[in-house]
Amino acid sequence: MGADCYVGPVPADAVIAPLAAGDVDRLVDVVEAALPSRRSEPPAERRDRIARRLRWALASEPDGAWVARAGDEPSGIAIALRSGGVWVLSLLAVSPRAQSGGLGGALLRQALAYADGCHGGMIAASQDPRALRAYARAGFDLRPSVAASGAVDRSAIPAGLALEPDGPVFTRGALGTLRPFLPTGSFL
Ligand SMILES: CC(C)(COP(=O)(O)OP(=O)(O)OC[C@H]1O[C@@H](n2cnc3c(N)ncnc32)[C@H](O)[C@@H]1OP(=O)(O)O)[C@@H](O)C(=O)NCCC(=O)NCCS
Repeated sequence: MGADCYVGPVPADAVIAPLAAGDVDRLVDVVEAALPSRRSEPPAERRDRIARRLRWALASEPDGAWVARAGDEPSGIAIALRSGGVWVLSLLAVSPRAQSGGLGGALLRQALAYADGCHGGMIAASQDPRALRAYARAGFDLRPSVAASGAVDRSAIPAGLALEPDGPVFTRGALGTLRPFLPTGSFL
C-alpha cells in the first residue's frame, strides 16, 4: 500500500510539510477544536495530553508526522505510524475554520506515502463523513470495531507487550503482537 491510492485534489495554496516543534502549540488548538473527545477532561490536562501526543510523534515517527499550512497558519495535522509492516493513522485533524477545503485529503495522501512497503493499514475512524469518504476513496474497507473509554490501567496490560511508558496504547510492541491477527496483504 502507499501513496498511489486516490485521495482527491490538493488545494493550490496549501503547503504540507513535516511536523516541526514550533507547530505544536498552534496544532494543540487545532486538534482540540477538531476532535471533541474527552470533553470532561480538565482543559489544561487535555491540552497537555494533546501536546505530548504531538511531541511523541515528532520524536518517534518524524517521517509520518505532517502539518498542513494554509498561508502561514498550521491548520491541520496527520500522524501515521508503522510497525511490523502495518501502517496506522494515529491522528488526522483539520481546524474547523479550514475543514472541507481539501487539507484533510492532502494530509491523508502524504500520510499514506509513509505506508510504502507496508502490507496493510488500519484507521480507527471518527464518524465525520469527510473522514469516512476520504478513507473509502483511499481504498480502506469499513469494518466493525469496539470503542472503550477511560484511563488505561497499565498494570493490567499483559507482560511482554513492549509499550512505551507515556506513549499511546498501540505502540510498536503492541502492533507487532497484534500483527498475527491482521489479514496479510489486505487493508483493515
Ligand atoms: C476529517 C477531516 C480531517 C477531513 O479534512 P477536510 O479538510 O475537512 O476534508 P476534505 O476537504 O479534504 O474532504 C475530504 C472528502 O470529503 C468530502 N467532503 C467535504 N465536505 C464534506 C461534507 N460536508 N460532507 C461529506 N463529504 C464532504 C470532500 O469532497 C472529500 O472527498 P473527495 O476527495 O472525494 O472530493 C476534517 O474534517 C476534521 O478534522 N474533522 C474532525 C476530526 C476528525 O473526525 N478527524 C478524523 C479522525 S479519524
